[in-house]
Amino acid sequence: MTVDLLVLGSGIAGLSAAVHAAQAGWSVVVLTKCELASSATQYAQGGVAAASLEAPGDDSPELHFRDTLGAGAGLCDPLAVKVLVTEGPDRVRELIAMGAVFDRTGDGEAAALALTREGGHSVARVVHAGGDATGAEIERALVAAVGATTAAVREGWLALDLLVEQGRAAGTTAISPEGAVQQIHARHTMLATGGAGQCFAVTTNPPVSTGDGIAMALRAGVAVADVEFMQFHPTALHHPAMPRPLLSEALRGEGAVLRDAAGRAFMATEHPLADLAPRDIVARAIARRIDDGPMDHLWLDATAIERFDTRFPTIWRACQAVGLDPRRDWLPVAPAAHYLCGGVCTDLDGATTLPGLWAAGEVANSGVHGANRLASNSLLDGMVFARRAIGAIASGKDAPEPSGVLELVHDSVAPARQPSSALHAGGTTRGDVQDLMTRDAGVLREAVRLERATKELATMDASDPEVHNLVTVGTALVEAATRRTESRGTHTRQDHFAAAPEFLGRFVFGGGPSPVFVPLPDRVASIGGAEHPERGGSSVPTLRAVRR
Ligand code: SIN
Repeated sequence: MTVDLLVLGSGIAGLSAAVHAAQAGWSVVVLTKCELASSATQYAQGGVAAASLEAPGDDSPELHFRDTLGAGAGLCDPLAVKVLVTEGPDRVRELIAMGAVFDRTGDGEAAALALTREGGHSVARVVHAGGDATGAEIERALVAAVGATTAAVREGWLALDLLVEQGRAAGTTAISPEGAVQQIHARHTMLATGGAGQCFAVTTNPPVSTGDGIAMALRAGVAVADVEFMQFHPTALHHPAMPRPLLSEALRGEGAVLRDAAGRAFMATEHPLADLAPRDIVARAIARRIDDGPMDHLWLDATAIERFDTRFPTIWRACQAVGLDPRRDWLPVAPAAHYLCGGVCTDLDGATTLPGLWAAGEVANSGVHGANRLASNSLLDGMVFARRAIGAIASGKDAPEPSGVLELVHDSVAPARQPSSALHAGGTTRGDVQDLMTRDAGVLREAVRLERATKELATMDASDPEVHNLVTVGTALVEAATRRTESRGTHTRQDHFAAAPEFLGRFVFGGGPSPVFVPLPDRVASIGGAEHPERGGSSVPTLRAVRR
C-alpha cells in the first residue's frame, strides 16, 4: 500500500503536517520511534514568538523580521524570514483554535495573551503556556488533534533510510517494534525528525534527538547545509541530569541576571542588550569565562523574579529537585547543545532537493535561522513550514524550486541516490560520540581540536542505527566547522575570531565526498543582516526590501 503522506517524527512540525493533511482527506501515516508525545517539542519552555498577534502595540512583523535577521548573523534567508513573521501569527491562532491554551494576563475570554521577552527580541512578543511549559501544551493539543483525524500512528518504529525510486522519494525503510525491517511506501515523505543535540554530552535535547533525518538525507545525497551552527543554550542548569534542565531565556526577560565567578553582572560589557543579547553572544561570553576559570559554571541570579513558582513552574520543580530555591539561591549555569540551526535544505514550501521529500522543523534548513536562531522562533518555524508544505502538495507542487535556501544550492548538488543498506557492526557508543564532540566541537572551536575530532570520527562505527546517525551528523558538523575559518553566529573559532565576508554562504553537503561552499545570492547578501546594527554594522533590513 502507498500512503499519500508519510510523516517521520511527531514534534510540532510532524504533527502539524499530519493534522493539515488528514483534514484534507489524505491517507497519512505518522512514524515515530517512541511514543507520539515524546519529542523535543514537549521540552520547549520559553514560547512562540509572534508579532502583533492581538493588537499592534509597539510590535510588528517588521520588527520581528529585523530581530530575526539580527540574530542570524548574516545567513538568514530574508524571504524565508518574511514568510515566518507574516504567516506565524495565523499559525498560532490555528493552534489556539485547535485547543492549545496560552497564558493570559487576566481572567475571562477577553483577557489578552501574556507576552514575555527573550534574548535578541527588541520587545516582549513571546506567547507561552503553563508558565514555562509551552511545548508540552502545544504537543498535547496537537496529539489530541491528530487523534481526531484518520491519520495512522505507528509508535516505536525507527526510520532507517529513505527509499529513492526513479529520482523521487518513495517512503522509508524502518524497523518495527518487533525488530523487523520493512518498507513503507508513500507519494510524499516529510522529514520532521528534529535535531541532533544528542551529538553532545551536555544537551537540553531528549534522547530521541539523534539527527536521524539529517543522517538519512546525507546518505541519500539530499542537500544539507549549515550544520556547523549548533546553537548552545547559554543557561542550562549545571547539574548531571540529562537532558540538562533548561533555565529559559524568559527568566532573563523577566529580570534575571548572569553573574561571573566573582558575582559581577557582566553582560552589559558584551552587548548593548546586556542579558538579553542574542543567544550566541551570551553562550560565548559564558563559555569564555568558564574557560578562563576558576569555575566550571557561572551563575544566574533570578532572585528578583516575583512569584517564581507560578510563573516558571517547570523550572521551579527542576530547581527544587536539586535542592535549589531560585528565590534565594543563584542558579549554576553553563551552555548546553540546544538547537541545530542548519539541516536539510528546503525551498520556501519545505521541498528538499529530492522530489517527493519535504522537511520541516529542526531537521530542516528553511533559512529562517541563519547562523544563530532567534529565541522562540523554532516552534513557529515548525508550524509555518509544515503548513506550507501541505498547501504546496495540495496545489500540485511535486519538486523543489530555487527559492529560499535552495536558490543557489539547487544547482550545486548531484541527483539523490538510494542509500546502501549495508549493516554496521562496530561498537561505538553514544557516549563515545558525545564525549568527542563535547571535547572538540563545542562552543569554542579551533583547528587542532577539529582535526582530532575528524580523525577519531573516521574510526567510529556503530551497529546501533541512532549512534550511527550521530556519527554521520557529527562528521558533517566537524567538517563544515573545520572549513569555516571564521567566527559567525553559534560557530566560534578561537583561531579565527572575526567574521569574514568571504564566508557569507553555506557549506552544502549534496552527494559528493565533501561539502561545497555556496555563496549567498546577491539579494540575500545585501539584506541578510551582515551589516545589521546587532552585529556592529549600520544598515537596517526592512520587510519591504524583500521581494520574490
Ligand atoms: C528558552 O526558553 O530559553 C528556549 C526557547 C528557545 O529555544 O527558543
